[in-house]
Parts: sequence; C-alpha cells; structure tokens
Amino acid sequence: MNPAARAAAVVPAAGRGERLGGDTAKPFVLLCGRPLLQHTLTALEQIPQIETIAVVVAGDAVPRAQEIVRQTRLANVALVPGGPDRQASVKCGLDALPPGPDLVLVHDGARPFLSPALASAVLAAAARDGAATAALPVSETVKRGEDGWVRETLDRGSLHRIQTPQAFKRTLLVRAHDAAIREGFRGTDDAMLVERLGARVRLVAGDPANLKVTVPDDLELAEALLARRDGQAGPPRVGIGFDAHRFGPGRRLMLGGVEVPFTKGLLGHSDADVVVHAVMDALLGAAGCGDIGRHFPPTDPAYRGARSLDLLARVCDLLAGQGWRAAYVDVVVMAEAPHLAPHVSRMQAAMSQVLGLTTSCVNIKATTLEGMGPIGREEGISAQAVATLEAAPVSANGGR
Ligand code: CTP
Ligand code: MG
Repeated sequence: MNPAARAAAVVPAAGRGERLGGDTAKPFVLLCGRPLLQHTLTALEQIPQIETIAVVVAGDAVPRAQEIVRQTRLANVALVPGGPDRQASVKCGLDALPPGPDLVLVHDGARPFLSPALASAVLAAAARDGAATAALPVSETVKRGEDGWVRETLDRGSLHRIQTPQAFKRTLLVRAHDAAIREGFRGTDDAMLVERLGARVRLVAGDPANLKVTVPDDLELAEALLARRDGQAGPPRVGIGFDAHRFGPGRRLMLGGVEVPFTKGLLGHSDADVVVHAVMDALLGAAGCGDIGRHFPPTDPAYRGARSLDLLARVCDLLAGQGWRAAYVDVVVMAEAPHLAPHVSRMQAAMSQVLGLTTSCVNIKATTLEGMGPIGREEGISAQAVATLEAAPVSANGGR
C-alpha cells in the first residue's frame, strides 16, 4: 500500500435517530436481518486504505457495538462514547485515533452503502488537496421559502448535496475542530469546519446509492438496495436439519456448543452435540451442500471426539466459499430432561459467535415430549433446526 494512501477512519454513530423514531437506536435497526452499523462497518472493511477506525456510539451502546465489531473482520477498532451533536462525536473519534496515517476519512454510521471506489476517490482527492467531500448535483429546482411563500429561486447549477465520506489531512481536520470549539461554532459536517479556516475542500462525485438512513421510508429503500446488491432479490434460501443421539454413561452433555450439567451425556463419534449438528445440517441444506455425514464422515477417525462448534466453523467456511453466510437460525430441542431454559442464552452466545451473527439471530427453544416415545422416556435428545442464508460479501482476503 502506498503510504500516502493510508488512512484512519472516524465513524460517527452516536446520534439519537430522532427522525427515524422507533424503539431501537438507529445503529442497531435491522436491515435485511443485520444492524445498520454492521452494514456500514462491513463496507469499511472492504476499503484497503483504512488501517484504524474510531467508531463513535452513544455511551450506553458501547457493549452492543462491541458485539457488532466482533462480527466483522475489522482490526484496530476503538469504540468511543460520543458527544451531544455530530461535531462533538467526530471530535471524540478524532481524539481516540492512535498516531498513524496522515489522512482521516469521516463517514456516517448511518450510510451503509459506501463503496470502495467512492472512498478511494475521496481519499485520493484529500491526499492531493488537503480536504475532500463526496457531493451530488441537485437535480430539482431549489427555492428558499419563508412562512409558506417562495422568497427566492436558487441557482441549482452551483449547489451540491453533501454526503460522507469526507477526507482530510489529519492535522487540518484537528485544527478545524479545535478552532470551531474555541469560537463556539457548530457545523453539520466536517468540511464546514475546514472551510472556516479558509482551506479549500475538493468536491468529488458522490454516489446516489450512498443513502443516509434518516427517516422511516429510508429503511425500506435501504433494504431493497441491499437485496439487489447482494443478489438476494431471488427467493430466500432455507434449510432444515435434524439430529438425534442416545444417552449413555460417562459422557459430558454438550448442547449448542456448551456443557449442560446432567447425570449423563449423549453417545456419538464427535461430542454428539445434537443442537449444533441440526444447525449444521440446516445450513448445508440451505446452501445445497448435502449434509454433515458427507463432509465429516463418522467413519473418519479425524472426527473422533470432535468439538461440534469447530465443525460448525468449518461449515461456515464452506458456505463462504459458495458466497453464502448464515442469516438466521431457529432451533427446537426435544429433551425430557434436563431442563434447558437456563442454558439457552449460553448456547445462543456460543453459536452466534461462530456463525458471525448477533445473538438475536440465533433462536433456541426447548420442549419435552410429555413422556411420549423414546425422547419422552429419556432415552436421548433430538433437535430440529431451520436456517436462512444471505449472500456473503466477498472480502479482500476471500473469506467471510
Ligand atoms: N451523530 C453522532 N453523534 C451525535 C449526532 C449524530 O455521532 N450526537 C451521527 C449519527 O449517528 C449519524 C451521523 O452522525 O451516523 C449523521 O447524523 P444523522 O443522520 O442526523 O443521525 P441522527 O443524529 O442519529 O438522527 P436525527 O438527526 O434524526 O436524530
Ligand atoms: Mg442528527
């Protein structure tokens, strides 16, 4: 990488999302099953120039954002509590960046469609000219109004709708923020602060698809754009999985990737985790890739005592090779005993981590069979799972 092109990024995502409304804070609103902030960070993941990122979120959102960062392949991410307005939040992010690249890219957490091409164009312009912003021409006639009356028609030829990303020489951006604070100036974007110093900001052709999620209607539009981009416009991919194992003595009971304290465990070649096995089969089924037996034959000594979560990770890699990743998993475990409810959240955490999903996308239910049949007689445990897939963006290093 040309050192001149290396950049740090600040991602302000600490707003209140007032115009969006709703109960969920804007960064965590789900778009096609994944939080808005995760889409934006996944987009940043595709930008090779970015070495380090400060993601700025509301103070109480840091743990949730941490989980989202964990779902990405991003390294060198600092999660920073934000300030009362966007300018203050960007400043918090800037202050948290470690010493490093001379360029800083600022990109709103609410814009999930950042393309590497646009980020590169803005970074290249900033490397050359000191400051640059993505901007779109105004296609409609623009008038200034007052009290319900037109006051003036503006010359739209010189007007631009400003987007992020914006990029700056780091020293210039820091100076601009410091001057604004000193002089009590509040701006709605970072370029404004730089303009006040008398520095020039280069306009770079923006991307009409680089939507900022602001009002409720934007959610529907964003989902449609995501579906089209990820080739999900076709029917959803769904798979079903089932597994059952018999109880036996001297075994630990492994379910959903965690040990469940009980007097007996399940017999099997691997750790006999029926929950993970059912999920693996559902995923393989949705991807059209056969079943566990085909990929991990019980006759193969390599899988003796295998940890099922490790096999699940292998299934995820296999799916990624086909351009898929898990989107949502729902499981029902059939067990007369032990009582599983107290262990469900641990299972969710263990499986979601391997699947690269938030825990809310891994649902686990348990039921007894009211004494009926072999499961009802406590001879074993079985599990059924359903999984849906989404197209996996191909990352720079070829995996999920
Ligand atoms: N932002 C921020 N800190 C603030 C306010 C805004 O980091 N105190 C971020 C938002 O999270 C968003 C970006 O700045 O990613 C652009 O702001 P906007 O779209 O206006 O988002 P909100 O401020 O959250 O929404 P609203 O104005 O409707 O409350
Ligand atoms: Mg705002």
